[in-house]
Amino acid sequence: MSAHYGSGPGEITPDGCAVEFYDLLPVMGEPEIVHGAVPAGASILELGCGTGRILRPLAEYGHPVLGVDESPAMLARLSDLPTVCAQIESLELDRVFDVVLLASTLINADPEQRRAFLGTCRRHVAPGGVVVVQQTDPNWFGTVEPGEHLHDGIRRVIRQVRRAGRRVDVVVDYHVGDRTWTHAFDRHPIDQDELMADLASAGLRFDRLLTDDHTWFTTRRA
Ligand SMILES: C[S@@+](CC[C@H](N)C(=O)[O-])C[C@H]1O[C@@H](n2cnc3c(N)ncnc32)[C@H](O)[C@@H]1O
Repeated sequence: MSAHYGSGPGEITPDGCAVEFYDLLPVMGEPEIVHGAVPAGASILELGCGTGRILRPLAEYGHPVLGVDESPAMLARLSDLPTVCAQIESLELDRVFDVVLLASTLINADPEQRRAFLGTCRRHVAPGGVVVVQQTDPNWFGTVEPGEHLHDGIRRVIRQVRRAGRRVDVVVDYHVGDRTWTHAFDRHPIDQDELMADLASAGLRFDRLLTDDHTWFTTRRA
């Protein structure tokens, strides 16, 4: 078993994310990747939208959007956009979208949760629509080590890396000015056969890679 937890200023979500940290985290090209992969004006449902870091720019590109998150504190930061506070696994909106977005490596959850997330994607994607997924770089699992990285004024200190079978458990400190947040989380790798099997049992099929590093891909209804 592994645990997700977080600490630091402000509200922390059940999966350990700090609301204030996500509110200041800049986009890292995600909206452009999604927007470039889908038709202009396509409706987008984001599962696990947080503060709308990715969803807001997509709305600004002209996409009708809906964000889903289990954290009211996260959703309070995008009160000007339509949102639903719910768990992804059991979501039943009774409507479908041109695009379902599962970003932020949420798919690297444990296999049972991953399959539930994919089921939710399938239930909410329109016929002819597309599910856009961001996964952890497959190379990361073998290469991640404790260390320090400075980017956009955010100092990320990977404090602890533990390998438990194929799963990797990580503790990261994020330092911004005089504020520090800690996030402990796990990541489960997904090999190609597992992905194909899980997509098939969700009623989805692999479509195409969007990036050379294999972190972004699309799937469609089978
Ligand atoms: C890492 S944050 C990413 C937020 C946003 N996608 C971004 O990139 O800025 C993950 C978000 O997913 C939400 N989340 C995680 N697991 C969830 C679940 N099972 N159901 C609903 N929301 C979930 C968390 O509350 C958090 O806001």
